[in-house]
Amino acid sequence: MNMKHKAFFLLVTGLAMASFAPCSNGNAETELLSLKNTYKNEFLIGVSVKDSQFMAKNPAETAFVKGQFNSITPENLLKWDAVHPQLGKYRFEESDRFIEFGNKNGMFIIGHTLVWHSQTADWVFKNAQGGDVDRETLLARMRDHIQTVVGRYKGRVRGWDVVNEIMEENGSLRKSPWQKIIGEEYIAKAFQFAHEADPTAELYYNDYRLEVPGKRKGAIALLRKLKAAGVTVTGVGLQGHYDLNWPKPQEVDETIADFGRLGLKVMITELDVDVLPSRPGGAGNADVSRKEAADPKLNPYKTALPEAMQQKLARRYAELFGVYLKHRGTLSRVTFWGLTDGDSWLDNFPIKGRTNYPLLFDRSYHAKPAYFAVIDAVPVAPVNSPSQPQPAVRR
Ligand code: G3I
Repeated sequence: MNMKHKAFFLLVTGLAMASFAPCSNGNAETELLSLKNTYKNEFLIGVSVKDSQFMAKNPAETAFVKGQFNSITPENLLKWDAVHPQLGKYRFEESDRFIEFGNKNGMFIIGHTLVWHSQTADWVFKNAQGGDVDRETLLARMRDHIQTVVGRYKGRVRGWDVVNEIMEENGSLRKSPWQKIIGEEYIAKAFQFAHEADPTAELYYNDYRLEVPGKRKGAIALLRKLKAAGVTVTGVGLQGHYDLNWPKPQEVDETIADFGRLGLKVMITELDVDVLPSRPGGAGNADVSRKEAADPKLNPYKTALPEAMQQKLARRYAELFGVYLKHRGTLSRVTFWGLTDGDSWLDNFPIKGRTNYPLLFDRSYHAKPAYFAVIDAVPVAPVNSPSQPQPAVRR
């Protein structure tokens, strides 16, 4: 066990006892091996969380989130249907607690997401007669939503996924209700309303499969247009729903470089690596309307992931983080979509009830080989450098 790994072992031991092992100087978080400390000179390391992971329901899990990550994204609770379920009715109980948790722990909080075609209740797009709402009313609803939500967390949420999944694979704009009713201008308006509500917040366009050349080309053209029109866009989020083979490291490399050349920050916002078999066209496709038939051959690791696959996943993460590290400076954050394999949406997509293993921690909160591959991707700092992780010392 090398020094880095030994420190992690002590961290997990502390976790099992529902508390962190204290360090010699009493500051556990700066000395225990963690993703956030290992990457502190590179980019932020984030995770998407569910309510149990930031409320008092599960203290050990909450401690884990705080110990490993310095940025958090709510997996679902800031989406339109969660905070704004009915016309004129907002519900902020859960999101308030989430923001409080992040602020108290000095985390870089991401607001996910303001304008999306999914998880947005039907009423948003309908008039009193049940037909399509008119353009002006929809724009007014969008403005009210953005200004109420962003305004409430002004100065506390550091970056917003303003528009989510707005492009088709061929590089044209998705024919969402936003696009059909308002037209392309809804995108610029969403950024404008968000900027008015919090001029200090970073504002992002977030999407999946931007590594596909046609989709990327469309996105680049759109971002150029927005910039030329003076719209405030800070960055682009590559969701990073990958599998073991797609995308190739070179495609990731080119994608980050292409968006970076536009002068935008680039982030990996929803990273996971699907290890289960998929039909053609499945890889990286986060389109939630997609469904595949149940077939036992498509769920081969029901009880455990074989060691050879663990190693394959570890090599895949090492290769991805090798590319990310090359772009430190342009890349400002890497966020994992879920804490442990047991939390992943990929257990239920595109087929319900499978057992997937896409993340760095297993269902018992143990670090997988992939965790250590990510840790080891960062070159070890010289001895005595403050950036070198120190082993934890138990009292
Ligand atoms: O809250 C209800 C619960 O009351 C009900 O009993 C249960 C029955 O199925 O459903 C629960 O809602 C689920 C919700 O997650 C909260 O757990 C929805 O069915 C389920 O569809 C929803 O899935 C989320 C998905 O977005 C919806 O589009 C996933 O958790 C979430 O990880 C996923 O995240 C998206 C990103 O926001 C955008 N990029 C793609 C990514 C993966 O789809």
